[in-house]
Amino acid sequence: MEKKRIITGDRTTGQLHLGHLVGSLQNRVRLQREYETFILLADVQALTTHYQNPGQMKESIYQVAIGNLAAGLDPEKVTLIQQSRVPSIAELTVLYSMLVSVNVLRHNPTVKTEAKQCGYGDLTYGFLGYPVSQAADITFCSADLVPVGDDQLPHMEIARKLARRFNELYANGDELIRVPRALLSETPRLPGLDGSCKMGKSLGNAVYLSDDADAVNRKIHSAVTDTNRIAVRDKGNPDVCTVYAYHRAFNAGERADICEMCCGAQIGCVACKTRLAEKLNTLLDPMRERRAYYERRRDEVRGFILEGSEKATRIGNEIMARARAAMRLEI
Ligand code: TRP
Repeated sequence: MEKKRIITGDRTTGQLHLGHLVGSLQNRVRLQREYETFILLADVQALTTHYQNPGQMKESIYQVAIGNLAAGLDPEKVTLIQQSRVPSIAELTVLYSMLVSVNVLRHNPTVKTEAKQCGYGDLTYGFLGYPVSQAADITFCSADLVPVGDDQLPHMEIARKLARRFNELYANGDELIRVPRALLSETPRLPGLDGSCKMGKSLGNAVYLSDDADAVNRKIHSAVTDTNRIAVRDKGNPDVCTVYAYHRAFNAGERADICEMCCGAQIGCVACKTRLAEKLNTLLDPMRERRAYYERRRDEVRGFILEGSEKATRIGNEIMARARAAMRLEI
């Protein structure tokens, strides 16, 4: 039986961090065996917020590609795709843009949250419309499933509606454009070092997968804990502690122990952080090795991206030819 196809991706805005690792990378590493896996380096989507600094774009594209490979994605198995190299993504975006109202986009909760975070009182057309472009990312290759976090569900809804609408209008309801399904990541979102609800590149509260052992140590020791716990003899509340959230995500073996000791004031925050940093460094070490390997072989990485993007272009062109014919654009 043919494998189902999945597509997922990252905006190319810089380094990947621990939030990506628990939220998506670890999941992708598992999924690559079972599914035909497409990984999108979403450089066009990165432009929605980073169009003013083109100087960093190339490096970010490599960082996201190498980050995925370092996490354990196998370049023999997965297809790495640079979004801007695939013409059918841009073409489908334009065609889909006729089928979605501005109000639907304006009320998209993820667009709203991000617009607020970025301080955009006056949204660009590209930013407001990026869920339409994301629908093209997903459907140009007839992906069956899209592994995502819950923040992406509103975009999935738009993608599904666009695919259905297209099929109704132009294909007599046949599934010319495959209606994709979300494969929701179960893991809870990782908080930032500052205790804020999300670890984020732009928020300055991240442990990067590229950080060395010293940096990880230093950052973990700077993390916010239970702010009510002032002295070591105070009992702690792991439920409100960022460091405990990390233990929960990365230290399954010790977490129950640590929870008990913290609640009983038998371990201090410094010792607890030291244990976490050790655990994290053990987890990150093999990734650091793979990163170093690919850093020395950027030409090879470039080759993977070009080859993957060409394959994606061929697949997308086929869908586009059918879409054009269905829309009676062929003369
Ligand atoms: N918007 C996604 C994010 O911020 C990245 C992304 C772009 C994506 N295109 C995609 C994810 C297509 C899944 C499928 O994480």
